[in-house]
Amino acid sequence: MKLPRTLMPGLARQLGRPSGPVGRFLVARMLNKNNRPWITAAADALALKDGNVAADIGFGGGVGLPLLLERVGPNGHVHGVDLAEAMVRRAIARHRGDRHRLTVHLGSITELPMGDASVDGAISINVIYFVEAAERAFAEVARVLKPGGRFVLGHADPDLMRELPFTEYGFRIRPIDQVMSLLEAAGLPVKEDKRVGDGDRAYHLLLGEKG
Ligand SMILES: C[S@@+](CC[C@H](N)C(=O)[O-])C[C@H]1O[C@@H](n2cnc3c(N)ncnc32)[C@H](O)[C@@H]1O
Repeated sequence: MKLPRTLMPGLARQLGRPSGPVGRFLVARMLNKNNRPWITAAADALALKDGNVAADIGFGGGVGLPLLLERVGPNGHVHGVDLAEAMVRRAIARHRGDRHRLTVHLGSITELPMGDASVDGAISINVIYFVEAAERAFAEVARVLKPGGRFVLGHADPDLMRELPFTEYGFRIRPIDQVMSLLEAAGLPVKEDKRVGDGDRAYHLLLGEKG
């Protein structure tokens, strides 16, 4: 379905911070459906073990949360962090039975609500486009990761993104090389740029590891 151009600024706002019933039901479902392949591949790339602590930063519709819960097993723990109240409420409502294994936080990647060196693996998929202070965000991820902990940053192909009709409304589209340099500077050197999908515009999963 092709949306009229007049709806693009609103769609961009919803993607950056879903709100209200539109965000909670429509946008959340759309995100879960479209982004499941990269989120699943990112959760796999963390190579989590039973009993690990994992995080989904900017979980949106929340499809990553059960994927991480499954991978850390009954003795592990998952943190979900999102800036949008609508997404936090949605996740809490859907995971009432997981309260002992899942903590859902209203918060920002630039000021993470987890302790130093407390997380084995974290994913953040389609979030960095909405963050001005990327250096600060990656420094926070590095702070909460344990030594050897993994971080998978999901980023759509920048050329592809520039052609989408809503990205001109506030998205920060950085070249992949620049994102990699920022990760390295934060102490999360990228071991692999794993591509998901076909062709030279396939999705990027940048796998960083804390030294
Ligand atoms: C496009 S959605 C992506 C959601 C999900 N990761 C996915 O790929 O389907 C972006 C999400 O990041 C959240 N977000 C935006 N800025 C954030 C920040 N500074 N810290 C944490 N979450 C943020 C938004 O509220 C939204 O839920």
